[in-house]
Amino acid sequence: SATRVPLVAGNWKMNFDHLEATYFVQKFAWLLRDAKFDYRRCEVSLFPAFTALRSVQVLVEADHLHITYGAQSVSVTTQGAFTGDVSADMLARLGCRYVIVGHSERRKYHPEDDANIVDQVRAVLAAGMQPILCLGESFEERRQGIELEFAVGQAHDVTRDLSDEEAARLIVAYEPVWAIGTGMVATPQTAQDAAKAIRDDLRDTFGPHVAEVVRILYGGSVTSKNCTQIIAEPDVDGFLIGGASLDVEELARIARLT
Ligand code: G3P
Repeated sequence: SATRVPLVAGNWKMNFDHLEATYFVQKFAWLLRDAKFDYRRCEVSLFPAFTALRSVQVLVEADHLHITYGAQSVSVTTQGAFTGDVSADMLARLGCRYVIVGHSERRKYHPEDDANIVDQVRAVLAAGMQPILCLGESFEERRQGIELEFAVGQAHDVTRDLSDEEAARLIVAYEPVWAIGTGMVATPQTAQDAAKAIRDDLRDTFGPHVAEVVRILYGGSVTSKNCTQIIAEPDVDGFLIGGASLDVEELARIARLT
């Protein structure tokens, strides 16, 4: 859509210490500068581990880079005796614009259910950042042919109590679990069908403005070989990229092609 700037988001997961992250960001910025990359045409955003966020912030600010960044998860509490947690305010003060919420790996390896994910979304919004809400069916729902209902249901359950203003700041990442890290990328049509179904539900719940402005990303085995066809779909507004985001030249290629 002409009104939505595409977003290429690299989710590094548990990879790269702060030195590797620094090296990556420098090289990434050089590659994009060499390619005369237009950051107004396509936004690029990186999601390092907590331990690398400060290094990325320092570099982005010192070199005036147009790259945005965010965290991979956040605590639902604001402050206090919560050993091991990191609050949304702490992330906002590190210059994070986004926080990934509800990634399938968090749902699987941590006790993150829909109630917890709603609270994370609220914490991110309250701190002035934007949540990237991840959802998507597993192979089982797909086998049963209920994948669209499932993905829309996940989006609806987490977002329905937001205000229109809050909903307008959401980003949704449709990441079918069977496509994550498997090399089994969804077809452009599958990505489009899910993105459209999610957007239609946003329109029903919040009206046309929210449906028009919310960016819906596709994630799952995205590479420079398959991104062009997927981004051509009208309701897909970019990518959340795992494995391919660890290769700086590959991520720069994807950004240029998006
Ligand atoms: O959040 C991105 C993700 O889970 C997709 O991972 O490795 O299939 O690109 P990958």
